[in-house]
Amino acid sequence: MKNNKWRVGVVVAVIVAASIMLEDGCECRRVQFIFGDSLSDVGNNKYLSKSLAQASLPWYGIDFGNGLPNGRFSNGRTVADIIGDQMGLPRPPPFLDPSLTEDDILHNGLNYASGGGGILNDTGNYFIQRFSLYKQIELFQGTQEVIREKIGKEEAEEFFKEARYVVALGSNDFINNYLMPVYRDSWTYNDDTFIQYLIETLKGQLKALHTLGARQLMVFGLGPMGCIPLQRVLSASGNCQDRTNKLALSFNKAAAKLIDDLGIQLANSSFRFGDAYDVVNDVISNPNKYGFENSDSPCCSFGRIRPALTCLPASSLCKDRSKYVFWDEYHPTDSANQLIANELINKFGFLRLNQSSSSPAPSPSPLN
Ligand SMILES: *[C@@H]1O[C@H](CO)[C@@H](O)[C@H](O)[C@H]1NC(C)=O
Ligand SMILES: *[C@@H]1O[C@H](CO)[C@@H](O)[C@H](O)[C@H]1NC(C)=O
Ligand SMILES: *[C@@H]1O[C@H](CO)[C@@H](O)[C@H](O)[C@H]1NC(C)=O
Repeated sequence: MKNNKWRVGVVVAVIVAASIMLEDGCECRRVQFIFGDSLSDVGNNKYLSKSLAQASLPWYGIDFGNGLPNGRFSNGRTVADIIGDQMGLPRPPPFLDPSLTEDDILHNGLNYASGGGGILNDTGNYFIQRFSLYKQIELFQGTQEVIREKIGKEEAEEFFKEARYVVALGSNDFINNYLMPVYRDSWTYNDDTFIQYLIETLKGQLKALHTLGARQLMVFGLGPMGCIPLQRVLSASGNCQDRTNKLALSFNKAAAKLIDDLGIQLANSSFRFGDAYDVVNDVISNPNKYGFENSDSPCCSFGRIRPALTCLPASSLCKDRSKYVFWDEYHPTDSANQLIANELINKFGFLRLNQSSSSPAPSPSPLN
């Protein structure tokens, strides 16, 4: 499986997944554990009461479920939601959900993703509260202890070996760290040495996850983050920030190599890297080709007051949310996430997987 398409493509493992009984005696479901930032957060920051990175007010979540804010930094689903649905995996609840029980974890896995979080501990520290990747891995260790208590050491080991893992962080390490002069890293490193530092750190973190039992793991690369509305307002022209985009490309290249190397080095592992850089870049340059009308400004905004760092009840919404690539200054809309996920799914042939064995039907786009 270690061929080139994993290097050039986007996310994703080809997995026939369903609610199944695993062969080796563990009567567990196959679930996911997700480590990430605001692109994958499904509500953790909502419970971090002092966090300034919040998606807890309208109009976040307006096209999801009952339309109330649910902690996702989008109007609808995340890319991981959509891909997980297609893989027939249950959607993992946020780690901080106070109503969670051990059985919920055994049935649905857990999502540790936290808005503002990064590969580095310092990243996003002006959001005051967020889980860095190190912290998320610590929390996962705690989860493992709880599960061992519940089902025993051997079954727990099997459960965690069979689970799917997603690691999707990195953009905050640039946007909310290296590229901000208030952070020490911005003057300690240059572009190359900072990326090396990130990759070394990520290497240690992925090895730690492997030691903890993660075997099937996908790492999502970065998109053209120099084109998020927040970056465009940095220049009078409103163009994408070339340097920021170049950093994303360099990170992706180095991360692809790291994950390939780890996949060879680590026993029984299936570690994969994928990014959606090219697809998103093309959507941004040619929105009409993909059915979008706007690819440079947020759907939820204060109009001329830019950047409005978050979407608020006082913000106004664009007329047709399905026609905007960006939901707020940082994050894509549900329909952009759908398009990214579709591209991945087509690329890697998810739809040709054994449909008969996966029970949950993919949920339709709420925007149709
Ligand atoms: C990062 O934070 C974790 C706790 O979440 C800590 O154990 C670790 O030592 C920190 N690493 C660095 C390099 O500061
Ligand atoms: C790899 O898989 C083999 C066969 O299932 C097993 O015996 C071995 O202990 C595994 N190694 C690790 C590090 O998981
Ligand atoms: C598809 O799933 C069915 C039922 O789970 C199984 O019997 C069959 O072998 C699978 N086919 C393939 C090609 O995996």
